[in-house]
Amino acid sequence: MAATSGFAAVVFAIASLLCLTIAPTRGALQAGFYKGKCNGTDVEATVKSIVAARFARDRSIVAALLRLHFHDCFVRGCDASILIDGSGTEKTAPPNLSVRGYDLVDQAKAQLESTCPGVVSCADIIAIATRDAVVLGGGTQYTYVVQTGRRDGNISLASDASANLPGASLSASQAIAAFRAKGLNASDMVLLLGGHTVGITHCSFILNRLYNYNGTGKPDPDMDPAFVAMLKSRCPQTSAVDNSVFLDNGTPSTVDNSYYKQLLAKRGVLKVDQNLAMDAATNGTVKSLASGSLSFPSLFGNAMVKMGSIQVLTGTQGQIRKSCRVVNK
Ligand code: HEM
Repeated sequence: MAATSGFAAVVFAIASLLCLTIAPTRGALQAGFYKGKCNGTDVEATVKSIVAARFARDRSIVAALLRLHFHDCFVRGCDASILIDGSGTEKTAPPNLSVRGYDLVDQAKAQLESTCPGVVSCADIIAIATRDAVVLGGGTQYTYVVQTGRRDGNISLASDASANLPGASLSASQAIAAFRAKGLNASDMVLLLGGHTVGITHCSFILNRLYNYNGTGKPDPDMDPAFVAMLKSRCPQTSAVDNSVFLDNGTPSTVDNSYYKQLLAKRGVLKVDQNLAMDAATNGTVKSLASGSLSFPSLFGNAMVKMGSIQVLTGTQGQIRKSCRVVNK
């Protein structure tokens, strides 16, 4: 068994390396798309300084941007459709009500519009800012080259968000299918769920696991009893307030591989997280990422680049919005 997962780890590492060597660009996206296009301003450096200033006073911006990027890319592709204001737009859909980070994107957009109007897409600002936040949250070993050249979409529907964003209790095979529908494989899915290395969930997503799993009147047997007790103290069965708990209770606000170690210790918070460690299809990758035989710092970036290329608009498609919250007239 150990030999099999060791072999799988080697095949996985070689496959990832090959992908990097032969596919430096994804689709029509490219590294450094904005070089020389913003009146002498370094677009990526501008975004980075805004993210760094925010991170210095609020580390939770890392989690906010990771989730914002994921929720953008899974609904009509990475086209910043999640940013559009108005009744019935994506951001009004239930899974998006706790998404944060919009103000940081606005700030970066305003600054870039003042130097080079109509050049930098909102979709690229999200991708660049997320990469910068990940590096701040995890250290320079998490650096990856972000691909740019996305354009912004014109359509944003709450119904698309509800239909495309995966639920918190999916089985591993359902999660694999949801990611496959977006062109991502099972390994990408395990790596990307590693985004839960930072941030929080509201208690409402886990009350059934703590108090009445599958109608048994008992906690989920796949959760460490001491961990159940700790979570129950934060999440009373009946409460007027929907409290929050960390997703990675090892190192809650650092980007690292602790999330996978927590899963192996049955300390996964969402059911979908814990399922990765329980299912034969994903357990080997979880173990390898937890032990470090697969390097989370080097592989997470590759998976983020893949996620960032889902159904992108490029060339003359879509538009470059003037305000990220409004489609251009
Ligand atoms: C099957 C896939 C996924 C499911 C079902 C899922 C589900 C959830 C849920 C239920 C929450 C808590 C929301 C709340 O309480 O308000 C959450 C938070 C979060 N998710 Fe996911 N997620 C998935 C994949 C991802 C991916 C791919 C990423 C990033 C690469 C990601 C990043 C995050 C982050 C950072 C948070 C914390 C947000 C914060 O603290 O504000 N998730 N996720």
